[in-house]
Amino acid sequence: MSPASARAELITLLQMAYSGERAAAYAYLGHRRSLRRPKRADDREMLRLVLVDEIRHRRAVRAMLRRLNAEPDTRRERKMQRIGVTIGAFCQVGGRYPGCTAPASSNAATSPDKSSLRVWPTSQAN
Ligand SMILES: [Fe+2]
Repeated sequence: MSPASARAELITLLQMAYSGERAAAYAYLGHRRSLRRPKRADDREMLRLVLVDEIRHRRAVRAMLRRLNAEPDTRRERKMQRIGVTIGAFCQVGGRYPGCTAPASSNAATSPDKSSLRVWPTSQAN
């Protein structure tokens, strides 16, 4: 593999990871919104921490792309946003089922970051 093709492949993988974090964040956001009852406040906080993690991951991947003088793939960004929003919408219906809560539980256990949430535009500025 030539250095140029290795670089191109790395950029593609980072673009996929970057957009995947977007899908995950939207999915967790939708799931969090599905937990409206007061007794689910702990789950909501856990999901907030997971969402913060996803945003932090996204920023880290974006920094890697910048170091390679590359940009996110806007088409993939839109696609993964649709997927994340769809999953989040499904949680409005199926949020009480384990399939919707298990990933959040495993991620939150490792999340030390408690900073606030932020919404981001498609044409990333972070
Ligand atoms: Fe992540």
